[in-house]
Amino acid sequence: MQNIPVSDLPTSVQFDFTTGIFAPALDLSERRISDLAEMYYDQAAVQKMLQGGNPVIYEIRYHPFVTSNSDMSLGVTRLFPGKVGDEYHMTKGHFHERLDQPEIYFCIHGEGYLLLETREGDFRAERWQPGTITHIPPQWAHRVVNTGSDVLFFVASYHIAAGHDYAAVAQRGFAQVVVERDGKPTFVPNPRRQ
Ligand code: F6R
Ligand code: ZN
Repeated sequence: MQNIPVSDLPTSVQFDFTTGIFAPALDLSERRISDLAEMYYDQAAVQKMLQGGNPVIYEIRYHPFVTSNSDMSLGVTRLFPGKVGDEYHMTKGHFHERLDQPEIYFCIHGEGYLLLETREGDFRAERWQPGTITHIPPQWAHRVVNTGSDVLFFVASYHIAAGHDYAAVAQRGFAQVVVERDGKPTFVPNPRRQ
């Protein structure tokens, strides 16, 4: 994102609870299966989806709020329903670069899980439904999984200065993956770590 406007005045945007879209947004990013290819354990299923048109898995609208001595960002992610093989659609997931930077996630619509893991391997999964608000402490990687049949959208609030470190999650994933078994979301050990 370039040319972020600086303003010391209060600023508002308007959020639509039915669509998960707010305006104005200063930036919109799309993440397609090609951007997430290495994240899913079933590489044959990834290849099939790439050949089938490279669908969008999620999109994020951002609005940075920068003053002369502070920086915050609002990010709203819309994670579309579906699976890659039997693994549910999910965000890439990341650590914050800075070790002192937490985040708030607020689930507005849809259902799923927020996966969290430290570098030491402490793993948690928070069950998500509309209205669930989770505080992500510093040094916990975070990823959202949509296990429902509808779009899942959530609001994120964080400091821009937190930075994003995607490398560790890209290499190893999380301790567990969420897959559909017997028609139900099920946690299994990550095959990429075995
Ligand atoms: C910011 C944050 C969210 C995510 C967004 C997409 O720190 O956690 O705004 O950036 O949900 O997920 P990733 O960044 O993992 O692709
Ligand atoms: Zn984050």
